[in-house]
Amino acid sequence: MMTNNLANEAATTFKLQCIRCPKTYPVTEVRYVCDCGGLLDVWHDLEMLRPQISRGLFDGRLSGVPGPRVAPTTNSGVWRYREIILPTTVDNIVSRPEGHTPVYEHPRLSQWVGLKNFYLKHEGENPTGSFKDRGMTVGVTQAKLMGAKAVACASTGNTSASLAAYAALANMAAFIFIPDGKIAAGKLAQALAYGAKTLQIAGDFDDAMKLVRQVCDDTGVYLLNSLNPFRLEGQKSIPLEIIQGFRWQPPDWIVLPAGNLGNTAAFGKALYEAQQLGLINKIPRLAAIQAAGASPFYQSYQLNFAERKSMKANTVATAISIGNPVSYPRAIRALEWTNGVVSSVTDEEIMDAKAMIDGVGIGCEPASAAAVAGTRRLLAEGIIKPHEMVVGILTGNLMKDSANTVDYHTGAWPNAKYPNPPIKVEANLNAVREFIEQKL
Ligand code: F0G
Repeated sequence: MMTNNLANEAATTFKLQCIRCPKTYPVTEVRYVCDCGGLLDVWHDLEMLRPQISRGLFDGRLSGVPGPRVAPTTNSGVWRYREIILPTTVDNIVSRPEGHTPVYEHPRLSQWVGLKNFYLKHEGENPTGSFKDRGMTVGVTQAKLMGAKAVACASTGNTSASLAAYAALANMAAFIFIPDGKIAAGKLAQALAYGAKTLQIAGDFDDAMKLVRQVCDDTGVYLLNSLNPFRLEGQKSIPLEIIQGFRWQPPDWIVLPAGNLGNTAAFGKALYEAQQLGLINKIPRLAAIQAAGASPFYQSYQLNFAERKSMKANTVATAISIGNPVSYPRAIRALEWTNGVVSSVTDEEIMDAKAMIDGVGIGCEPASAAAVAGTRRLLAEGIIKPHEMVVGILTGNLMKDSANTVDYHTGAWPNAKYPNPPIKVEANLNAVREFIEQKL
């Protein structure tokens, strides 16, 4: 059902490359895995690109271009790096625009974590409230270049919210597969509001993922899970933007929550390529943090990856409640490239870290807080050192999952360390005044 209209002069500088065998495919072919079953990368010809790519090229785009209005593509924190993400002409790009997310620091939070130099890149401040927009702008642009009429994904909620928005923007039908009852209400609301056909699967994310792959193979609907290598190309812009924001001086560590392992894979590839292209002199170490109830990658890591583990996932951090992560082999490679580590944190650690992040006025959804809880744990274990500079990734917005936040503050978590329960007060001035005076 797809017509191939990828008229791209730059097509020779990139192709699809299997990560397991030497086979390559043109980017004009709709395919998500190699004939051998291996995952695919978008491979860029770094030798050919090296003379064109420089810090100056990307810094120049930060200051915009002359003219009455800065084009959305110039204003996107993803398309700023387009030569090493998806070389295409500006007219083809489907963009909100995304990226340019803030980096926060707060002394109380840094002290709680135990670091002097601790920063949080807030990907929850993207257009649909999660980092997924960075991959989706590229994935939906590629879908458009391929002439796709319909796109699909399985999701724990954020991918589907993002897909729904970008598909609507590009006038494509969107089919999303979500685990029934296991996604946060804010994310379901977004999918419905943006007009995606939403299938609530009676199963978990891993069941939904298996189904959507079969359906896309069967029907020719374009698959936009992070199995799709173009999505990961967009997510590469997160570490690039962090490092550019620090004037190309990389931090010692980048710590991120890990579920389906798309981000872990993308970050590793971005850092490897940035070093190959001479954009950075040092590669930051990656720390991928899983929730203990959804920690197959952590369990394999403990076995030195001798065995690929999977499990029935169950965690309060529904976004990362994944028992059989798709990008597993790409993520192992990312750890090799970055001398990375994997850790896991309990739901209690996640919710207490979230209360701290929320309480300093930044805020995030539970999965994101795993990055901060994980940083704290790695410091306690002596893996991260107190003098090191760490950037944690907040992947999703506080407002995505209000139910878990309210539960935490209203007594559903008996061991909660930082609850801030609402107080019932009589509707008269004296009662209110008495309460306020007690608190002052
Ligand atoms: N944080 C949030 C808020 C997420 O939504 C996800 C993934 C992750 C972290 C993990 O990232 O999969 O690249 O390791 N959410 C996907 C979804 C699975 O369907 O929205 P990952």
